[in-house]
Amino acid sequence: MFKEAAIRKEFDLQGIVPWGRRYDEYAEFFALADLPLEGAVLDVGGGPASFAAEAAGHGIEVLACDPIYAASGAAIRHRFEETRNDMMAGLRVAQYRFNWKRYGSPERIERIRREALDIFLADFEVRGRERYVPASLPALPFGNDAFQTALCSHLLFLYGDDLDAAFHVAAMKELARVAREVRIFPLINLDGRPSSHLPVVMEALEEAGLFAELVPVPFEFQRGATRMLRIRKG
Ligand SMILES: C[S@@+](CC[C@H](N)C(=O)[O-])C[C@H]1O[C@@H](n2cnc3c(N)ncnc32)[C@H](O)[C@@H]1O
Repeated sequence: MFKEAAIRKEFDLQGIVPWGRRYDEYAEFFALADLPLEGAVLDVGGGPASFAAEAAGHGIEVLACDPIYAASGAAIRHRFEETRNDMMAGLRVAQYRFNWKRYGSPERIERIRREALDIFLADFEVRGRERYVPASLPALPFGNDAFQTALCSHLLFLYGDDLDAAFHVAAMKELARVAREVRIFPLINLDGRPSSHLPVVMEALEEAGLFAELVPVPFEFQRGATRMLRIRKG
């Protein structure tokens, strides 16, 4: 009991925080090498990631959605700065349960997150609602199969203490409604343990006639987070 409380405190975050990643990171989380280039991609919970902005240069059309896009760029930067201290403190305390091969140090991670934020904010300013839609799971304002692929990075499963199993099931079904294929990463909690929601969600998806599988990806930062969840229809 005491041990669990101590582990959770390593990342003492104020809710689900805006902390964004770059295109090359997404490419590894989601093994994007096999992504059909002609299909539109939805980045759900995109936050201050630069994936949508950078993907255009890789020939991939990405629309991002996140409730935070209702805020101004200045407010998003402010929220990032509020998050930064808690995130860096967590990374330093919990260093032992990350694989540092890719990033090297918490300071390098902060540099990459700031690069992502700057690229995102510049693009958010120019493209606005055309590329960044304010919207929240589990109800998205898109038609059935509007996208070839929906990606969801560092939201579902990671924030499993904030979002319960019923939310995850509803969110997954919604993602599978708007996209032909769904990819989710990571499948591990903030505290570094495999999400207890995963078996429940996979069973519910199979019952709904969806095909859910765990697929190895060429990335590991949280130790053991080496697979994504891929959902396909029929
Ligand atoms: C840790 S950030 C991840 C950002 C980005 N996906 C990445 O991996 O770099 C989590 C994001 O999820 C967003 N979020 C929180 N609740 C959400 C919901 N119900 N639906 C969609 N996005 C949500 C937050 O606003 C935040 O920007």
